[in-house]
Amino acid sequence: MLKNKRLLHFLMLTSLMAFMASCSYDFIEYPYVAPPDPNDTVYFAEKIVPIFSTDDKCTSCHKPGATNPDLSTGNAYNSIVPNLINTTDPESSQIYWHPHPNSSTHAWKKLSTSDADLILLWIQQGALNN
Ligand code: HEC
Repeated sequence: MLKNKRLLHFLMLTSLMAFMASCSYDFIEYPYVAPPDPNDTVYFAEKIVPIFSTDDKCTSCHKPGATNPDLSTGNAYNSIVPNLINTTDPESSQIYWHPHPNSSTHAWKKLSTSDADLILLWIQQGALNN
């Protein structure tokens, strides 16, 4: 009986270790983020708005009554579409290129590459208010 209990504890411990190892795998991958799958719909509310507002990354400056464009949650869409979007040449869209990590403009704060990729894909999918 006691032996079985030890075996059980051993199994619990090893599975816990395996679980923790799977977490550290994610850690090793960081900050690599796989490019977005072009077949997945990029939803504005779910994927794009948080890029601007999480940790006040963009909304610290781009908020109502401050620097244009107003990228706060309720106003972001109307600030971006159509003014900062070029659906015929998505890569030249200001909301994508102006704060792009590789552009020489907007030294204030850059998008991460993965956030820029998401924004580009959202524009390519029609810049919908979805
Ligand atoms: C520290 C303040 C600050 C932060 C933070 C900031 N910006 Fe800006 N942004 C500005 C200022 C000032 C301008 C106007 C001058 C310029 O174009 O660089 C501007 C301009 C822009 C423009 C150009 C708008 C146009 O009409 O052409 C875009 C697009 C933009 N910001 C997007 C972003 C995004 C996306 C983020 C978050 C990743 C961000 N900004 C974070 C200060 C900021």
